[in-house]
Amino acid sequence: MKYPNLFTSMNIGSVPIKNRAVMTAMCVGLANHDGSVSEPLAAYYEERARGGAGLIITECTRINEDDAVSHSSMLSMSHDRYIAPLKDAVDRVHAYGTKLFVQLFHPGRQNVVMFPALWRFNERMARIFPRYWDLFFKITGGFDESAMDDPKTVKRMRRYMKPLLAPSDVPCGLGVNPIRNQATKAMTIPQIKTLIGQFVAAAGRVQKAGADGVELHAAHGYLLQQFLSPYTNRREDEYGGTLENRMRLLKEIIDGIRKECGKDFPISVRLSVEEYYDMIGYAGQGIVLEEGVKMAKCLESFGIDVLNVSSGNYDTAQTSCEPVSFAQGWRKYLAKAVKDEVRIPVIAANLI
Ligand SMILES: Cc1cc2nc3c(=O)[nH]c(=O)nc-3n(C[C@H](O)[C@H](O)[C@H](O)COP(=O)(O)O)c2cc1C
Repeated sequence: MKYPNLFTSMNIGSVPIKNRAVMTAMCVGLANHDGSVSEPLAAYYEERARGGAGLIITECTRINEDDAVSHSSMLSMSHDRYIAPLKDAVDRVHAYGTKLFVQLFHPGRQNVVMFPALWRFNERMARIFPRYWDLFFKITGGFDESAMDDPKTVKRMRRYMKPLLAPSDVPCGLGVNPIRNQATKAMTIPQIKTLIGQFVAAAGRVQKAGADGVELHAAHGYLLQQFLSPYTNRREDEYGGTLENRMRLLKEIIDGIRKECGKDFPISVRLSVEEYYDMIGYAGQGIVLEEGVKMAKCLESFGIDVLNVSSGNYDTAQTSCEPVSFAQGWRKYLAKAVKDEVRIPVIAANLI
């Protein structure tokens, strides 16, 4: 057999995983509009568990209802009301001996800024008119990123929504959001502290729902990666500059989750260890593999249980979610470079 370890069991932290097949996070737009696990989403995870995966990582899941809402029908763990529906999905996945981690996420500058601006209003309207969400998404054309590729939608948004737009949160005042040049605002220290509390509280809810661990989404150009990358983090305080400072936010979140959930609750970090700015003509900018490996080693020293190695951001998007025209396994050298330097398990996704 070419891969003799594939069907052998292993541990992530103290959690046994029955084989080495991991389904990485994929947002599929099947959650209820309010962010709770829906029947179709639970059934989707159950089918993947039936298929035999050892570990399933849920889609990116928001940690607050203000500026972390980034697309329609996405999962949320921002409130206790999300615990019970998640528990149902966890039980169904567990029935096949598969483990489930929830990926916690904040989009930062990758947000479509209409979401933070209108979300609270929308939530209230949805409580009054049960069919409000259907109407909202029909009128706005969904307003996820693909909808923003439609010139008519963008024009409609500019005309009607502009007065309602709230800027996205980012580490520092670096220009605008690369999605259609939308406004951004640098986070203040109190906002950073609030954010840490939100990640920690969300992890606590994931644990209460009986899930097996959490993954912090510090890849693909979202907020946690924006703090890590010297390209997007130009802060001059203790959260910017040196590698230690750029990693501080992630460290404080990890420390908080450990305190809240204990040492037996695995923490995964999905990390872009290479941003590939050289591919778009900015050689040497952003995270390059050498620094990515250093970050991985720091994360291991912070006490995480597994590293999920990925790459890219929205500026170099095809390197985080590549078209199938890329060679199979083309970026496995990234996972290998990390695995050579750490002792904890390493996950790789790259057109395998
Ligand atoms: C529809 C879709 C949604 C995705 N959503 C997420 C996500 O929420 N979080 C994440 O870390 N990666 C996400 N990804 C990236 C995948 O986890 C994976 O890294 C990527 O598809 C490449 O791996 P593969 O070749 O095994 O598919 C998404 C990919 C796809 C195709």
